[in-house]
Parts: sequence; structure tokens; C-alpha cells
Amino acid sequence: MNINPHSRKLHRYRQTPAHRALVAETHLNPAQFVMPIFVHEDLVDPQPIASLPGISQWPLSHLNNEVESILKTGIRSVILFGIPNHKDPAATEAYNTNGIVQRAIRQLKTAFPDLIVMADCCLCEYTSHGHCGLLKPGQEPHFDLTQTLETLGKTALSYAEAGADIIAPSGMMDGMIAHLRTTLDAAQFDSVALMSYAVKFASNFYGPFRDAAGSAGNFIGDRKHHQLAYTQRREALLEAADDEAEGADFLMVKPAMAYLDIIRDLRNTTHLPLAAYHVSGEYSMIKAAAEKGILDEHAAFDECFTALRRAGTDIIISYAAKAFWTR
Ligand code: PBG
Repeated sequence: MNINPHSRKLHRYRQTPAHRALVAETHLNPAQFVMPIFVHEDLVDPQPIASLPGISQWPLSHLNNEVESILKTGIRSVILFGIPNHKDPAATEAYNTNGIVQRAIRQLKTAFPDLIVMADCCLCEYTSHGHCGLLKPGQEPHFDLTQTLETLGKTALSYAEAGADIIAPSGMMDGMIAHLRTTLDAAQFDSVALMSYAVKFASNFYGPFRDAAGSAGNFIGDRKHHQLAYTQRREALLEAADDEAEGADFLMVKPAMAYLDIIRDLRNTTHLPLAAYHVSGEYSMIKAAAEKGILDEHAAFDECFTALRRAGTDIIISYAAKAFWTR
């Protein structure tokens, strides 16, 4: 092969918008975006979340309108987070068949049968202490794993009974995927899929979410006992491999932008669909910069989302999803 290095001029691909579109390797599609929705048991009107500009907590009375406007953009999936009006150490509201998330699922699946309804499955919004699992008495923050898995199982079942399409356990509890799969299958919910927050890092970018979901907790400490340290690349792959072996249908990496290497590693090692959660802090950073006129919001999100797809992501969960596709 005789390649003259001076004969190739890469700018020939880039001369006009049509040239660039012709050779574009990466594309965004609203059907692969998921819009997070916070449903609040106590509200009458939507309540804007100060640290997540443009995002609100929703009462059930306004939920259908909001979802209708999301569907108009071409987005076909939402993920629900609940803010209950009662919390206790055993997270009993998490699996209440009349809980806020269970009612939201039933309402949405009745109004929009084709909408994909995902439900985040974690206890941190429902425990009075704010931890993601149930605790061994006097040993904070050591989890009682057996009790925690049992409670997550009851929660997942109540979501499946309400009509959820995909259950997304986000607590990073060992064995949670196997336990939930077994629990769902035993109750004949074998069509309900599991999207595991398989690789969830103990991140500094979750702050606004904890305001939005009321899950900041009043505990001293952090979630480093169960969430992964951001020093860990091989351990991230172990987490994902375990969840795949336990029966996860989808694997998620969270947060997104600081973990493109993990997404690429997973893309090269699993055939499961991959999701990336562009989290609250990542969203609010761009919103804050745009508010100051430092950057163009839509262009910045476009670049981030395209990078996620280029790294190997199939599904993007983002607070910007609705506004991004509303044009
Ligand atoms: C619940 C959960 C969290 C997020 C999604 N599910 C918070 C946490 O682990 O504290 C974070 C989402 C975000 O920051 O946007 N366990």
C-alpha cells in the first residue's frame, strides 16, 4: 500500500453542513432519552426545584399534562422518583400499594399505555434517616442486607403490580438484581425488565437531586459504603459483570461525563443495552453557566449527549431531555 501522507486532506469532509452530516458517525434520537420526573405526594401545584433550574416536583393532578408535553417531543420514556409524606426507619412507604410512585405508575399507564414507565427503586427517599438501605440497630451505617433486599423486593413487586415497565434499582446493594429478578419471576412478572444502576459512583454531582427527592438525609457521613469510589475502573467492571450474571436487562453508568472510560469499557465487554445517567449536578452546572452567559446551553448539552453516544451509550437519562427536544 502506497499512501502518500500529503494526499489526504481531512478538511474535505468538513466543508459544508451537508458534508459534515454526510459523514456523521454519531446521532441522537429522542426515543433513546429518558425524562426523570419527581412526583410529590403533598403538593397542589408544581414546585420548582431551586438547585435544578427548569425542573419541578409534580402533584399527580398535573402529571398527565407534563407527560403529554414530554411525549410531544418524541421522548417515549420517563423515570419516576417519589417524595412521600411519611418516612420511617423501615421505609414502609416504599412498598405501599397506594404510595405516590405506585399511584403515579397506575395513572400514567392508564392515560398513556405506550409510554415506557421506569421506576427508580431505592429506599433513601423513604427512610427517615435517608440511607439507601435498612440499618442494623446501633451500627450506623451498616446495612441489614437481608432486610434491605426483602424491602426492595416488596417495593419492586408493588411497582410491577402498578404496571411499571422497567424497574431501576439504584441502591448498589449486593445481590439486589438476583433478588429482584427472583421475586418478580415468582410473581409472574417475567416481562418487567430490570435496569440496574450497575456502576453508580459515590459522586459529588448528586447534590441537587437530593434536594429534589428530599433524600439528603440527616445522617453524618456519606454513601461510600455502598457506592463505588471514583478511583475504581476494574471494580466498576466487576459490578457490571455481577449484575449481568444476576439477570439485569440493562446496565447503567452514573454519573455520565466523568465516566466515559467506564462506558467505553462496558461497551466493549457486554452486549446488554447501556444507559448513562447525566445526573443533577452535571445538568445544573451547564444551566448555571448558561444563565451567566458563559456558554450556549443547547450546544453544551448536544456535545455532552453526543459524547455519551460516541462512548457507547444507548440510552441517556437527563433532566435536559424534554427541553433539549422541545424546539
Ligand atoms: C437514589 C438515587 C440518587 C440518584 C438517582 N437515584 C441519589 C443518590 O444516590 O444519592 C441521583 C440522581 C442525580 O443526581 O440526578 N438512590
